[in-house]
Amino acid sequence: MRLSQAKPNAVTRITLTRPDDFHLHLRDGAALAAVVADSAARFARALVMPNLKPPVVTTEQAIAYRERILAALPAGSDFNPLMSLYLTETTSAEEIARAKESGVVIAVKLYPAGATTNSDAGVRDLLSAEAALAAMAELGLPLCVHGEVVDSAVDVFDREAVFLQRVLAPALERHPNLRVVVEHITTREAVRFVAAAGSGVAATVTPQHLLLNRNALFSGGLRPHHYCLPVLKRELHREALLLAATQGSPKFFLGSDSAPHSRQAKESACGCAGIYSAHAGIELYAEAFELAGALERLDDFASRFGAEFYGLPRNQGQLVLERQPWSVPEALAFGDERLVPLRAGGEMPWRVVEGGQ
Ligand code: DOR
Ligand code: ZN
Repeated sequence: MRLSQAKPNAVTRITLTRPDDFHLHLRDGAALAAVVADSAARFARALVMPNLKPPVVTTEQAIAYRERILAALPAGSDFNPLMSLYLTETTSAEEIARAKESGVVIAVKLYPAGATTNSDAGVRDLLSAEAALAAMAELGLPLCVHGEVVDSAVDVFDREAVFLQRVLAPALERHPNLRVVVEHITTREAVRFVAAAGSGVAATVTPQHLLLNRNALFSGGLRPHHYCLPVLKRELHREALLLAATQGSPKFFLGSDSAPHSRQAKESACGCAGIYSAHAGIELYAEAFELAGALERLDDFASRFGAEFYGLPRNQGQLVLERQPWSVPEALAFGDERLVPLRAGGEMPWRVVEGGQ
């Protein structure tokens, strides 16, 4: 990684190894066609989430979905979609073996049933998925978890911390060799849990959880475009996440959770959870790392630690950002609809100037 500065303390140019996004929603059909170029312009690879309707539950479906993603890419793009399977209570050990053997599926995603978008086919009781978990532990296929309990008795702001104690800690006791990524962590408790766990447990961190706290949901009125799950938390949690992401620990790496929903689906009496950030997928992280005074650690977080966790080679080539402010559009094309991106109508300090495709 290279940082160029015109004067001391004023970096103007950041040269990264081409980064990876280890948590991305690309959807399907017209929505896929509308968004995939944003990720491909910044990231060499992405781990694509399987919560389609219907979900991607077999290796065969994952391979077919990957082909649709490749077909939707701009001409000449070498973006490499890495695939995940959607864990259900009937996922068999044989399916896990097929996934591992495919070389295309690199993880299995746990959605607690009812926890988030398209999670109805997910897992009610993790004990029902023991055969799959045992096979994953044996074969070294990581489990990516949406770490929230679905229990109306638990406050929505506590659901992540309760999940870690009630569900994940016992699962790791039953399967000490299971490799786990706690996705989109949002709390100090999650930072501590992951830091204290063995080297097989890591976490992804989103740009919105590094840059915003829960006040952003209510600033001047209800802000549906800041609503995602797990929901934004208090400032003390944002600070803990920023510290974890920027301290140089290989346990914390980039996973944007960019999750497009149409403007209509968000601006509704029952708005969907999900924030679209792929239009500025690396620029937002550069801003967060600069805020923390840790730009020199961005390369490891964005381009190295995730690849190492998944046992993948580092990318060839570089991506260059410059301090060149630009305005984020109010809305983007999204098939027949519109998509409101993170920071819509606002300004981004960093711009990709080279190496984007
Ligand atoms: O905010 C979210 N949106 N969180 C999730 O877990 C799912 C995602 C989506 O698919 O829209
Ligand atoms: Zn997600």
